Amino acid sequence: MSPAGHLLTLLLLVSTSLAQEKAAVPEARCGASFSDPHKPVQIQAQADSECTYTIERPSNETTRVIFSLLQLNPSADCSNENITIFDENYEVLGVLCPNSPKIAVYESPGNVYITVTTDSTTRQRTAYLLYYSLTADNAVDCGGNLRGYAGTISSPNYPNRHPPFALCVWHLEVPKNTKIKLSFTEIFIEIDPDCRFDLIALYDGPDTNAPLLDVLCGRKVAELETTSNFLTLLFSADYANSYFGFSVSYSVVPQHEDGALSCSGDSMTVVLGPNYINSLGYTANDLTLSNSSCVAQSASPIVFEVPFYGCGTVRKVEDNLIYYTNVIHANPSGKVITRHKELQFIVTCELESNSTVEVMYLTSNDLIHQQQGSGKYDVSLAFYETQDFIDPVLDSPYFIDLNESAFLQASVKTQDPDLTVFVDSCFASPSADFQAPNYDLIRNGCEKDDTYHNFPSGSGYARFSFSVFRFLDAHTSVYLQCRVVICDINDPGSRCKQGCITRQRRALGSTVWKTNAVLGPIRLKHHSQSEAAGSIGETKDVVKTDQSSLYVVGISVLVVNVLILALVLMRYYRKEPTSYRYLPVPTAQN
Ligand SMILES: *[C@@H]1O[C@H](CO)[C@@H](O)[C@H](O)[C@H]1NC(C)=O
Ligand SMILES: *[C@@H]1O[C@H](CO)[C@@H](O)[C@H](O)[C@H]1NC(C)=O
Ligand SMILES: *[C@@H]1O[C@H](CO)[C@@H](O)[C@H](O)[C@H]1NC(C)=O
Repeated sequence: MSPAGHLLTLLLLVSTSLAQEKAAVPEARCGASFSDPHKPVQIQAQADSECTYTIERPSNETTRVIFSLLQLNPSADCSNENITIFDENYEVLGVLCPNSPKIAVYESPGNVYITVTTDSTTRQRTAYLLYYSLTADNAVDCGGNLRGYAGTISSPNYPNRHPPFALCVWHLEVPKNTKIKLSFTEIFIEIDPDCRFDLIALYDGPDTNAPLLDVLCGRKVAELETTSNFLTLLFSADYANSYFGFSVSYSVVPQHEDGALSCSGDSMTVVLGPNYINSLGYTANDLTLSNSSCVAQSASPIVFEVPFYGCGTVRKVEDNLIYYTNVIHANPSGKVITRHKELQFIVTCELESNSTVEVMYLTSNDLIHQQQGSGKYDVSLAFYETQDFIDPVLDSPYFIDLNESAFLQASVKTQDPDLTVFVDSCFASPSADFQAPNYDLIRNGCEKDDTYHNFPSGSGYARFSFSVFRFLDAHTSVYLQCRVVICDINDPGSRCKQGCITRQRRALGSTVWKTNAVLGPIRLKHHSQSEAAGSIGETKDVVKTDQSSLYVVGISVLVVNVLILALVLMRYYRKEPTSYRYLPVPTAQN
């Protein structure tokens, strides 16, 4: 036998004996208290019982409690049968109901109390938990947030032994309309039929509240798939029997066989199924964007990151909506003739400021596919120190004096130099819910406040200033809400070029407005050296020592919420190939 084989045998033998020892964890007595630094606890309960178990810990230590087995009466009602976990002040940390997922983790300083209540049904209930104190010695740095199309996750120290007391949570997010395919190349963690000791829990969603896909342990390989573009992977190890852990590779697959499109404010991501492309007689190497020097970022899975500016992407403005379109072509490499059908994949993103409905349609006869999606522009509002708009104000909160000028810039994050931003409306309110009284700075592009001033706008931004004021009646806060429009900089008829429009003209316009994303809050800064405003009769002779004195001297705090205004999307879904309303279908090869 090879040395590795011997090691394996040895490990398995050790494993078996230790596992037996763990499996024989005695049932905890009803009402028991535990004071060991760490301990596995097996709870058994009969009908009509109520037992409270106490984990005794000093207040300056944090205890982690991991439930890895939960077998209550599945037909019981949670109000009659549950396990409730309390912190040292008897505040509820969590409730495990009969239908709760069997994996749950709680952390709390000091004592933890666990009350198990059962209803009158005669049957055995079992729960298994492990608790341990979190100390500098057993801290394990692991887990994290992952994005992208493909990668590998492995246990800490892999392929060496993982440390004891590890709790790692990885959150994966891949482009919309794709899902995650997982392939475990190795799982070698402690064996238990119920995976009570060391375990891998897979959740079909962005966090551990999502439905459990599976719980894995022992020695195996495994493959599975999520239903959405999120996955959460939790790895928990107890105090003994650490083996080599696990390694899993993940990659995106489109939710629909032929492909997935996802739009962001600055680019679109197209994921194509390699099997589907192969079935048409092509490989990833045969595919390019409109500009044939732009190839796939990744061949397996086939992923195109399509920029909104470059690679042959065409921008089209219609009815005040902005569309970005590119075409993925197949160019069979190095061949003089081809017997494959021409393949074109037309991808279009419609931009609006929030929301995200993807529309997709395809026509299988002529192999022309069109996917259409919507994304949102990333628009932000920032204060600047001066009218040069060079230094953004980084301090938060930012306090400012009455009558001082506030300089603001609204910017859209985009690589497209031909977009501009227009501030359509801004109004102020003394409360964050924007109840009356309201005060208009600008409405429908018409300046309503004498101190409001527009600076020339440019590629990707709009700038304005106004004098800081406050509301009478002892309101110390001012909230601002602004609506921002994004336009083609070269379109003479765009909303951005129209400036102030009256209600009558507005009613004739084809623009449809939509408010959405809320940014902020931002506060204006107080400059103690500058002059206070005389108009509201306030004095300012106090050197401030803390924030509350700002209120005493009546300095206004301005909080800005920006509501971004966007263009409403006309969505459509048509199956006929004749329905390409927004772009001509490019012809094949000539
Ligand atoms: C908690 O407090 C005790 C005594 O008050 C001290 O001995 C111990 O080191 C403290 N533990 C931590 C983790 O700070
Ligand atoms: C858990 O059970 C206790 C005792 O029956 C009950 O008072 C409590 O409301 C239950 N909790 C929930 C969330 O149903
Ligand atoms: C977009 O904004 C509209 C109106 O403000 C709102 O009803 C909708 O829920 C928003 N959509 C998303 C995805 O946030």
